[in-house]
Amino acid sequence: MKPSLIVHGGAGNIPDAAVNDFRRGVRSGLNAGWSVLSRGGAALDAVEAAIVALEEDPALDAGVGSHLNRDGRVQLDAIVMDGGTLKAGAVAAVERIRNPIRLARLVFEKSEHMMLIGRGAEQFAVENGFPLCDPEELITDVARDEWRKTREPSAAGHAEQPRGTVGAVALDSDGNLVAGTSTGGTRGKYPGRVGDSPLIGCGCYADAQAGGISCTGYGEGIMKVVMAKMAADMLRDPGAVAPRESKDSDTRIAQSVAEACVRILGDRARAAGGLILLDREGNPAAAYTTPRMAYGYVGAGGVLNIAP
Ligand code: GLY
Repeated sequence: MKPSLIVHGGAGNIPDAAVNDFRRGVRSGLNAGWSVLSRGGAALDAVEAAIVALEEDPALDAGVGSHLNRDGRVQLDAIVMDGGTLKAGAVAAVERIRNPIRLARLVFEKSEHMMLIGRGAEQFAVENGFPLCDPEELITDVARDEWRKTREPSAAGHAEQPRGTVGAVALDSDGNLVAGTSTGGTRGKYPGRVGDSPLIGCGCYADAQAGGISCTGYGEGIMKVVMAKMAADMLRDPGAVAPRESKDSDTRIAQSVAEACVRILGDRARAAGGLILLDREGNPAAAYTTPRMAYGYVGAGGVLNIAP
């Protein structure tokens, strides 16, 4: 099977001056994931590598550079899901984990549970020899300045936020399909708030019979429409977006599904956001309703396609 990879660095109001930073982040995610897949590596390793690179980029809202919550602390959420078994590993509201996607993978591989939060997640990390970090190393000057602004009475809501969640979906040469998502959540969020990102079906879903999806945007809206699972259901049975008599290509159907999902997010949840996906054959698609979304995929011949 031909491997495939798509990643995103978040949907939001990305200013012109920051576009190159977002492109840099997306490129590093693609390079990290593709270096695994192009050598015949596993989709799980590719998603982890891509998301670690995205978490390490201080311009993106995941790992280092995450938004701060109301109390000026970083609380991180992440998930990885395997489309073959439908098994996932997720962590939420962790504060001392530099790369939460790695801890999510540890939960996926070593826990009898699929989601651990807060202190319990960090205890699981310690018990399994996983390193804890100093929470201060996750906080950038930019994020702290932005957080100060949220304390002003005129502070805007999520739609105005400059940075969003990160994610990746990979299909490997053995046909394994894996999706993952990682986030610092919304700027100025209430302590303990968990958004869509680490929740199966909301911010992430993978089913090898349908496709893999990672979402970004206003979590409280994405949860209302269970957007990632909605996209998977449409990919499985695209009748609503591509009537059987239509001659749409698989690529066009995947794009129609992505667009239908963000339309429903706006219509039914009155929320803005975006998603990336691979259908079960590895065809990529992306859609968003925010001013911009940073994303990229590996096209024919290993060429990187990056937006914006
Ligand atoms: N989509 C990220 C969040 O709302 O937490």
